[in-house]
Amino acid sequence: MKLKTTLALTLFSLHTAAAQSATSETPAQRDARMKWWREARFGMFVHWGLYSGLAGTWDGKPVATRGGMEWIQERVKADTGTYAQRAIPLFKPNPGFAREWARLAKAAGARYVVFTTKHHEGFALHDSKISDYDAGSVLHRDLVKEIVDALHAEGLRVGFYHSVIDWHHDQYEYARSKQLPHPLKGKPYPNGTRDHAKYIDYLHGEVNELISNYGPVDILWWDYSAQDFQGEEAWHAFELMAKVRAKQPNIIMNNRLFRLPEAGFTGMGTNAISPKLDPKYADFITPEQHIPATGMPGVDWETCMTMNTTWGYSEHDHAWKSDETLIRNLIDIASKGGNYLLNIGPKADGSVPQESVKSLQAIGAWMKVNGESIYSTTASPFEKLAWGRATTKQLPNGKTRLYLHVFDWPKDGKLTIPLAASTKAKARLLASGKSLKVAAEGQQITIAVPAAAPDQIASVIALDLNGAPQIAKP
Ligand code: GLC
Repeated sequence: MKLKTTLALTLFSLHTAAAQSATSETPAQRDARMKWWREARFGMFVHWGLYSGLAGTWDGKPVATRGGMEWIQERVKADTGTYAQRAIPLFKPNPGFAREWARLAKAAGARYVVFTTKHHEGFALHDSKISDYDAGSVLHRDLVKEIVDALHAEGLRVGFYHSVIDWHHDQYEYARSKQLPHPLKGKPYPNGTRDHAKYIDYLHGEVNELISNYGPVDILWWDYSAQDFQGEEAWHAFELMAKVRAKQPNIIMNNRLFRLPEAGFTGMGTNAISPKLDPKYADFITPEQHIPATGMPGVDWETCMTMNTTWGYSEHDHAWKSDETLIRNLIDIASKGGNYLLNIGPKADGSVPQESVKSLQAIGAWMKVNGESIYSTTASPFEKLAWGRATTKQLPNGKTRLYLHVFDWPKDGKLTIPLAASTKAKARLLASGKSLKVAAEGQQITIAVPAAAPDQIASVIALDLNGAPQIAKP
C-alpha cells in the first residue's frame, strides 16, 4: 500500500514536472533552446529498418507502386513472426553506410538528420538490453551508435524518430484504438489477453536507452497518435517527456504523442493540422507531405516530405520529384517561416537510391551559392509575390535584408517589388555578387536584372533596406 502511494506520488510529480518544464520556461529560454533549429531550416529524414530489405515486394510481387512501404507488414497483414522471418535475412547493412548518409546530408546543406530508431514494425536499430528484436541481438551491431557517430563527425545535429506504435510487442493492446494501424487489427490477440502497461514500460525503457547512451540528442521525433488513443492513456506521454527532458534538457520534441487541437491537430488526415500549439505538448508541429498555404506566426513547424511517394525504400516507386520541385519547396517553406525535413529511404545495405543522391547534390549545389537566403532567415513580409518568394534577415543598425527568390525571371529585365518607394535600397545578385540598379517609384521598387536568369530553378537577389520593409498595400 505504502509503496503504491509513493509510486503514485512519484508519477504525479513526474507528470506535473513535465507539464511544467515546457510551460514554466520563459519565452526567452524557449527561444534560446529553439534557436539552432529555427536557424537550420533544412534537415534530412531517414526511414530505414527491416522493411528496407523487403523493398515493397512480398511473395515476389510488388505490394504497390505508390505509398509508404515502411508499412509493408501492415499492408500484407503479416504477423510479426512471419514478417521477421522474411525480412531479417535481407537486412544487411554495409560497414560505413552511415558515413555515406552523413556526408550526403552535409553536402546537401542539411543541418540535422532525423532517423528511425524504431518504426511501427518494432525493430530497434540500437543495441537494446530489454529487447531481442533489435540490431544488437540480430546483427551484433549498434546501428544507432554508428549513425550518431557518423553524424557528429560531419558536425550535424542528431534527431531520433521513434514510433510509439508497435507491431511487434506482445503486450501492445492494438484493439484499444480503431484509428491506429496494426497488421492484426480486428483479430483477437494471438497470445490471449494483453497488458498495455507492460508495453508502456517497454516503450519508456527503450527511450531511456536511447537518451542515455548516445550523448546529446537534439530532437525526439515521436510518431504517432490517434484521437481515440494518445497522450497519457496510450503512452504516459507527460511522464515520458519529463524523463527525456531530465536527461536531455535542450532537446526539441514534436507533437505526435498527442492528437489534439491544442497540439496542432484537427483530425486524423495528414492535412488536418491547426496553427495552434500549447508548449506543454510539444515544441513544434509536423505538417506531413504538404506545405501549409501560409506561415503560422508564433508556431514552430516542420514539413516532412518524401522524394518519391514512400518513406521506406521501394524498388517499385519511380515517382521522383524533380530538383526544381525540391529546391522550390525548400524556398517556399523558408518563406513561410518553417523547416523542411526531406526524406531518404536507403536500401537494406544502407546505400541511398541514386535518384535521391543526385537530388540532394543538386540541392547542395544551390545551397552553396544561395544558402544565406535560407539559413537564419525568417518569413517573407509579402503576402504574395508574382515571380517567386522572399525571406527576411534582420541586419545590424535596424537594416533589413530581403532575399528575393525569383522563380520566373522577368523577360523585360525589370524585377518589380511591391515596396513603398521611399525606401533606399541596395541590390545584388547572390550568385555573382554583382550589384544591380534599384529604382524606386510610388508603391514599387524596380531592380534592373541581366537578361538571363543565373539559375533556372531559383535566382536570388539580396535587397538591403535602411529600415523595416514598407509593403505596398494591394
Ligand atoms: C506517418 C507514417 C509513417 C512515416 C511518418 C513520417 O505517420 O505512419 O510511415 O514515418 O508519418 O511523417
